Amino acid sequence: MDLGLRDRACVVTGASRGIGKATALALAAEGAAVLLVGRRAETLEAAARECRNAATGGRAEVLALDVTDADAGARVLEACETRFGGIDALVNNAGTSAVRPLHELTDDEWEAQWQLHAMAPMRLMRALAPEMARRGWGRIVNVCSSSGKRPSQTNIAYSVTKAAELALSRAFADAYASKGVLINAVAPGPVADELWLSSGGLADQTARARGTSREEVLKGVAARIPLGRLGTEDEIAAVIVFLCSEAASNVAGAAWSVDGGSVPVIL
Ligand SMILES: NC(=O)c1ccc[n+]([C@@H]2O[C@H](COP(=O)([O-])OP(=O)(O)OC[C@H]3O[C@@H](n4cnc5c(N)ncnc54)[C@H](OP(=O)(O)O)[C@@H]3O)[C@@H](O)[C@H]2O)c1
Repeated sequence: MDLGLRDRACVVTGASRGIGKATALALAAEGAAVLLVGRRAETLEAAARECRNAATGGRAEVLALDVTDADAGARVLEACETRFGGIDALVNNAGTSAVRPLHELTDDEWEAQWQLHAMAPMRLMRALAPEMARRGWGRIVNVCSSSGKRPSQTNIAYSVTKAAELALSRAFADAYASKGVLINAVAPGPVADELWLSSGGLADQTARARGTSREEVLKGVAARIPLGRLGTEDEIAAVIVFLCSEAASNVAGAAWSVDGGSVPVIL
């Protein structure tokens, strides 16, 4: 299937590793021009080099910034216009979590999660969606979480702000669908990537909190997923890239679960 992404100008935030990097690579492999955004220039540049190698004629550039900066939207738009001559697709992927019991979460931690998962994607959409509308074509995918649909006790601030990001996605989708800008969310379940598996990552943090081993934690996580295993970065990226594509021309305002069946509802 031709996804119609050749030469499309795409921005991926949080593109230095994990789901964001897999998405940037998959977009580049489709021939898109990709702007990789994150806080550290060196890791972004390494990911961009991989994109250039994977690309069939596509381009990859980097922009180092913190997406929670108030001017991040304007800077991303300017970088995309200067380097690619416009903007076609935005993937709001930057985000993170840590194991935090409900009663230990501080106001600062709540605020940081709100800034990262609600304000940052909102500001990027607010800056980029009007420009996509002016050109009459655009795609935005917000990487939310299954725990935005079904709150997880791992970190309630994460769950609540991911639920806000789902609502934000729907509100912007309603405002922009008639202008040719299609906005959707994906809701991944647990993914076997650095966030979970790295030393000190969510598996280790959960093991410490429960006084068990990381192997037991990962076995328990997999057992709660109907598919019986964690997802992969590439499986999430495949759905994101589809939603960025010409092929998704009748999809707007959806919150697409990519969670191996974890959230037990069909909506
Ligand atoms: N992994 C999972 O199991 C899972 C499940 C459901 C949903 N998700 C969601 O999927 C998205 C990606 O997750 P992941 O597992 O790939 O995460 P990850 O491995 O922790 O990567 C996060 C990416 O975001 C960047 N980032 C973090 N804070 C940033 C900021 N303030 N400004 C700019 N960039 C920032 C990081 O780069 P720098 O640190 O260099 O800035 C990195 O590239 C997140 O929104 C996450 O909530 C993940």
